Amino acid sequence: MNKKSYYITTPIYYPSGKPHMGHAYSSIIADVIARFKRLDGYNVYFLTGTDEHGLKIQREAEKNKKDTQQFCDELSSKFRDLTKVLNLSNNDFIRTTEKRHYKSVEDLWNKLVNSGDIYLDKYKGWYSVSDEAYYESNEVEEKNGSKVSILSGSKVEWVEEESFFFKLSAWSEKLLQHYNANPDFILPISRNNEVKKFVEKGLKDLSISRTSFSWGIPVPKNQKHIIYVWLDALTNYLSALNYPDTSSKLYKEYWPADLHVIGKDILRFHAIYWPAFLMAAKLPLPKRIFGHGWILSDDKKMSKSIGNILDPLDIIKNYGIDQLRYYLIKEVSLGNDGNVSLENLKNCINNDLANNYGNLCQRVFAFLKKNCGNKIPKSDSLSNKDKALTNKLKNDITKLSELINHQNLNIYIKKVIEYSFDSNKYFNDSEPWALKKSNPKQMNAVMYSIVEQIKNISILLLPIIPNSANSVLDIINVNKDLRVISEINKNDGLTHDKELGEIKILFKKVD
Ligand code: MSP
Repeated sequence: MNKKSYYITTPIYYPSGKPHMGHAYSSIIADVIARFKRLDGYNVYFLTGTDEHGLKIQREAEKNKKDTQQFCDELSSKFRDLTKVLNLSNNDFIRTTEKRHYKSVEDLWNKLVNSGDIYLDKYKGWYSVSDEAYYESNEVEEKNGSKVSILSGSKVEWVEEESFFFKLSAWSEKLLQHYNANPDFILPISRNNEVKKFVEKGLKDLSISRTSFSWGIPVPKNQKHIIYVWLDALTNYLSALNYPDTSSKLYKEYWPADLHVIGKDILRFHAIYWPAFLMAAKLPLPKRIFGHGWILSDDKKMSKSIGNILDPLDIIKNYGIDQLRYYLIKEVSLGNDGNVSLENLKNCINNDLANNYGNLCQRVFAFLKKNCGNKIPKSDSLSNKDKALTNKLKNDITKLSELINHQNLNIYIKKVIEYSFDSNKYFNDSEPWALKKSNPKQMNAVMYSIVEQIKNISILLLPIIPNSANSVLDIINVNKDLRVISEINKNDGLTHDKELGEIKILFKKVD
């Protein structure tokens, strides 16, 4: 049977500074979903990368007195390194300075020219280099003597120059029709409403080229114009699939994308401009755009100037990558803003990972070592109580996969950790240490059930804490091919004739 395919992307990051927690957050979300879909039998393609053109990068390189390409190479490699540190399972890492990407952007541009959606005029208005975005006068305010965007708070500057325009205004109706016919196209629903309201007011044509700097992809046949960095960047999602070669295996298998994971600040580009470009080019639209909220520290967005930045690399060094992944996904309800703090991170590690899941595994394995010859006993006499333990999780599988399919990651985690909590309780209540003498058959039934439950919980935790969950599955000798969702509903799947692997401390308590 052919596997179903699933294409998921992160935003491509500006290599203008070193990676921070917001970047880590977008990437971890996408990775958790990518890993779950793989476990659930999908052929997954997971893309991330760096967005390297535009005035913002050019100015940053100048500020650092570096050649722009060299500057990008250095910082892009930091983002590539981050994929390893975050344990991302991405299939590709795209850079917009790569040749394959140029080809793709030029082709899309030509398609928009051929469809009659591009014309030459003059742009007069506000531009934020930090956001690489154009703003209307009513989206700009005066703050401390400077003009800033009301939406993002970043400084804007006045621009007047010759520019190519995309006839965005002509696509308002079609966009609204698409949003209405596909209520899951933009999630969460609050963002969907926000976008619709904006489009309902009517869209203005969009300036899609600049002539006052050079760092970018030149407009085909008009080299003095540089293609607007957002048209350039959005196209990365196609370039990585070998577009414009639409007969290539990658393109055929994975386009249209199933999910673009983005932050809410870049919703307009993904939910309005991107589908309009694609419609104009007569290309299929992505199936979903999910705009997650901000990671906050003390209720404020993390920023260098406020000095409330939690550096993901420091946290990983001090507490571990699985710990950070688990915490971010559990703590923040996806779609909303969420506060993170060291205090809460530590509580989460101690309560959920060390005292709950870690402790469950540790005490069960220690018991097996001491009392069952370090092997998992077989049992053919499970009581209703034993069966109830594992059946609850098995019956929830469809619900759990729906939670992931609707990007309700924090609810998913809470459910999974609840199974672990229940298993600890079952272990206490069943008192296998007392059964050893009074009813060894029943002790075997308890230990069998609880290890099966640990196996299933660990499979469900693989997308979130892949290193630790794999260690547990290694200890109980679960074959690598059997670490998938479909195995959860099969009985047993445990190895009984082999001793357990070496037991290590899974999660250290922190203070
Ligand atoms: N280069 C564009 C994206 C182009 S996609 C075709 C860009 N890059 S970025 O580096 O500025 O930001 C990338 C992502 O990080 C965005 O989705 C943004 O929302 C996210 N975050 C940056 N700071 C954040 C927080 N404090 N919290 C959560 N995510 C935020 O935009």
